[in-house]
Amino acid sequence: MAIDVDQCKITYYPAPVLRGRAAPVEKIDDNVRRLVEKMADILVEKKGIGLAAPQAGVGLRLFIVSLSGKREDARAYINPTVTPHGDLDEVEEGCLSVPGVWAKIRRYKKATVTATDLAGNQFTEEAEGLYARCLQHEYDHIEGTVIVNRMGEAARIAHRRQLKKLADEQEGK
Ligand code: NI
Repeated sequence: MAIDVDQCKITYYPAPVLRGRAAPVEKIDDNVRRLVEKMADILVEKKGIGLAAPQAGVGLRLFIVSLSGKREDARAYINPTVTPHGDLDEVEEGCLSVPGVWAKIRRYKKATVTATDLAGNQFTEEAEGLYARCLQHEYDHIEGTVIVNRMGEAARIAHRRQLKKLADEQEGK
C-alpha cells in the first residue's frame, strides 16, 4: 500500500477509515517508517498516549503508544495481536478521533501484546493498568471499533450533541 505521508492528518469519527478493519503491513519500508514519524508528530501535538494508523487516515494494522506522551517514548506495534485477560475494569476514556467525548469504558485489566517493531523484530509483552487499557483501545482502532461503539447508552445520550456535530462535520467534507 502506497501511503502519501504528507497527506496524513488526524481523522475524526465517523470517518470511514475509522470504521473498517485495517489491512496487515506487508513490508516495513521507508514509507512505513515515515508514517510512524508522522503519527508521533500527531500524538505529541494532540497530547495523546496512543495513536493507530487509521487515525492518521491509513488503514493499516499499526499503532504507536507513548504512555508519557513524549516523542522519545513512542513505540511502534506493527501487525499486533492484543489478547486481554484478567478482571474487568471501568475507567473514563477519551480518543483523539472523538474530541469532546469522555466515557467510562469497560476493559480488561491485563493484556498480552505480540507485535513487530520497526526493526522487524517480533516481541511479546505483558501489560496491565493504563498500558493494558491503551493497547486494547488502539487494537480496537485497527479492528474498526471506537469508544462510541463501546460506551453505554447513557453516555451516548449525554454526548449525542457532540456526536451529531462530529457526524455533521464529516458530512460537510
Ligand atoms: Ni482512540
